[in-house]
Amino acid sequence: MRIARTPSEIRRQLKSLRASKSVAFVPTMGCLHAGHLSLIRRAKALADIVVVSIYVNPLQFGPNEDLDSYPRTFDADAKLCAEAGVDFLFNPTTLYPKSGPKITLKADSIPDCLCGRSRPGHFDGVITVVNILFNIVQPDIALFGEKDWQQLTLIRRMTLDLHMAVEVVGGETVREADGLALSSRNRYLTTADRSRAVAISRALYTMQQLARAGECDIEALKHAAIAILTDAGITAEYLDIRNPDSLKRKVTLNNRPARAFIAARVGHARLIDNMPLHQTEDF
Ligand code: PAF
Repeated sequence: MRIARTPSEIRRQLKSLRASKSVAFVPTMGCLHAGHLSLIRRAKALADIVVVSIYVNPLQFGPNEDLDSYPRTFDADAKLCAEAGVDFLFNPTTLYPKSGPKITLKADSIPDCLCGRSRPGHFDGVITVVNILFNIVQPDIALFGEKDWQQLTLIRRMTLDLHMAVEVVGGETVREADGLALSSRNRYLTTADRSRAVAISRALYTMQQLARAGECDIEALKHAAIAILTDAGITAEYLDIRNPDSLKRKVTLNNRPARAFIAARVGHARLIDNMPLHQTEDF
């Protein structure tokens, strides 16, 4: 595995290979877990060469968020990547000019809900950095986890609106045995918080089971989910059921694609998760 620390270095490394080989790209902020490794495995199955980036993007963190404390575990991450058969690891020190970027991307409307509402500017930071990374790596395929469904939706939309020649592939959320979605931020959980946090996936599974058993009343689904969260002492930042594609709020279920979303703070960790309500996959 080759490690590149600057955009020009990774460009140089990939230049001669690009003509004859397909490139799959897994952008990350490091602190890799089994969710990232499953994206890497999928990437290896889909392309000749796999590039992973590790960059904690300051542009997507709000002023009171965890940019400084976000876990940085480069040596362990590099070992995992090498073992997983990653070909190139891109770990830039920075991707922005010293004075900050003057040109950024702005996502319209989709960010006004779910995480976009509680983290103003977050998704503008995400699509700006993903656009920069795509420009540098020029992948054929890029893979993102479905746990960050709103991010995945926006990145797909960015590639469509900006006519980017990158196929965006979503990877299913990887979970602990009890259902908790893997996240780098799970590291912030104390033992007690960890056992409470499982209520988030339980609440989602409950909504899914009820919907699959024929419950069409969205308020009834939410009520059941809130009861589970409340029992665990968790207040949701949001708990919502939306169209998986447009992310518009659903008012009825009537067997159309729908996805349930939860964000909640558990101790020091802000956790998010989502699940499809019906059997048919959404994209
Ligand atoms: O999902 C993440 O880890 C980040 O948001 C991403 C896509 C790497 C952009 O910084």
